[in-house]
Amino acid sequence: MAGSTPQPRRYYLTTPIYYVNDSPHIGHAYTTLACDVLARFKRLDGYDVFFLTGTDEHGQKVEKAAQAAGLEPQAFTDKVSQNFRDLAKFMNYSNDQFIRTTEPRHIEASQAIWRAMAATKSPKGRDNIYLGKYAGWYAVRDEAFYGEGELKDGPGGKKFAPSGAEVEWVEEPSYFFRLSDWQETLLEFYRAQPDFIAPETRRNEVVSFVSSGLTDLSISRTTFKWGVPVPGDPAHIMYVWVDALTNYITAVGYPDENSPNFKKYWPANLHMVGKDILRFHAVYWPAFLMAAKLAVQKRVFAHGWWTNEGQKISKSLGNVIDPFDLVKRYGLDQVRYFLLREVPFGNDGDFSHRTIVTRINSELANDLGNLAQRALSMINRNCAAKVPQPGTLSDEDTKLLDQAYGLLAALRVTFDNQAFHEALETVWRVVRAANGYVDHQAPWGLRKTDPARMATVLYVLAETIRHIATVLQPFMPDAAGRMLDQLGVPADKRSFALLGPAGAVAPGTTLPAPQGVFPRYVEAAEGAA
Ligand code: MSP
Repeated sequence: MAGSTPQPRRYYLTTPIYYVNDSPHIGHAYTTLACDVLARFKRLDGYDVFFLTGTDEHGQKVEKAAQAAGLEPQAFTDKVSQNFRDLAKFMNYSNDQFIRTTEPRHIEASQAIWRAMAATKSPKGRDNIYLGKYAGWYAVRDEAFYGEGELKDGPGGKKFAPSGAEVEWVEEPSYFFRLSDWQETLLEFYRAQPDFIAPETRRNEVVSFVSSGLTDLSISRTTFKWGVPVPGDPAHIMYVWVDALTNYITAVGYPDENSPNFKKYWPANLHMVGKDILRFHAVYWPAFLMAAKLAVQKRVFAHGWWTNEGQKISKSLGNVIDPFDLVKRYGLDQVRYFLLREVPFGNDGDFSHRTIVTRINSELANDLGNLAQRALSMINRNCAAKVPQPGTLSDEDTKLLDQAYGLLAALRVTFDNQAFHEALETVWRVVRAANGYVDHQAPWGLRKTDPARMATVLYVLAETIRHIATVLQPFMPDAAGRMLDQLGVPADKRSFALLGPAGAVAPGTTLPAPQGVFPRYVEAAEGAA
């Protein structure tokens, strides 16, 4: 339409909201990091992004942790929630909002979705919510109900969930959600949207779980108080997962479905979750949303879990990895790089000192750091610290530049698949090609024999490094930003729209003195403090 400005494309992505029973650890840092990298990528690619994270503050687990700390639940959650905000700042996350489930707007939204579900009928024409009595097993650690058949016997007659959490027998009046009536609708939904659950192995697990039959879900509790009261029956509080999942719509303005953010961002493009909580996001949440006559999110990606030097991370083993310590030891962008490079996203991964040091030294310090340092110091010394004027390009020059120009299209695909490790591998193919090019062109030898050719080679390198640094901004915002500073790229000229020849570095631009961006990790001398 003549005169109309096209609206930017929207992208809404969420992390799980974190239980505030404990301090943040590497697992929490990981989920939010993956979302941060994706959010930054989409923003640089011209999207209007809304990136949400926050804390899950109700339920028995948090109530018990507050009791153990000798605090009222509200005072306790205020304190622990702040640790997660501090982590977000410390890790340089670019979240647009931080939601807390104890906020009044969220209580209102949770009660509204409950009412909306209660007002509708299931696909089989029955009430979606009904009052009954729950008698079964519950794991406080997982905040999840388990069937007898799923449990394992442990010492002292105790029973354990497949996650390893101890279960207890619960018998109480409870409202139920008529999940059993939603089986066919859900299966049809998964068939119609093959990309809804990723990776594919996880999708298959969910489909087979739903195909094997669903039982109704207990969605209220009466034996403790720390939760959102059920509308019209305050003796019950909502099952914490009903309230927790609702955070994704509270944050964009629900129950006001006409609010600008709700209209703009819902349904979310992506809920990023760990594999342990996929069922809640891919089975219960879509059923709740359909029952409340709301649109279902577009996709759920379940990532794997980290172990520490081969062992499961747990407080009792004393091997919890504190992200604050990790960053102090290895550097922020180094940790951000490692976590997304080491493991194919979706698989489990093992953290070890040796592997992070190898990645830092061989890929960041050697491959990328040396490339930038070599090219920039040659420009500094031999071209009077100005971007050189290129002459006619050779086939080799064009080949390298074309690889750099091709980065964005390849990365868009990897990002839409949440294949962060592949995105980095794609960038490193160009880093390695550029290092091969430097070795082969040997610009240091051209200084005397063919200065015009040297200028062209250094120009091609500067342009290639500009592309590499620009697409690395989502992963390592600070280090990539410093590389772009050193290439004289102004802060407002770093979006993906300026990739390619249109945004080329201008010959003659004066460059600052080059400084190494990625120091090698050197082991402290034995016996040193
Ligand atoms: N409060 C719920 C989520 C509600 S979302 C509506 C919850 N919180 S959690 O704090 O226990 O976990 C948050 C996320 O951290 C989960 O996605 C979980 O998979 C992730 N991780 C916890 N430990 C982890 C590792 N060791 N490794 C990777 N991620 C792990 O669940």
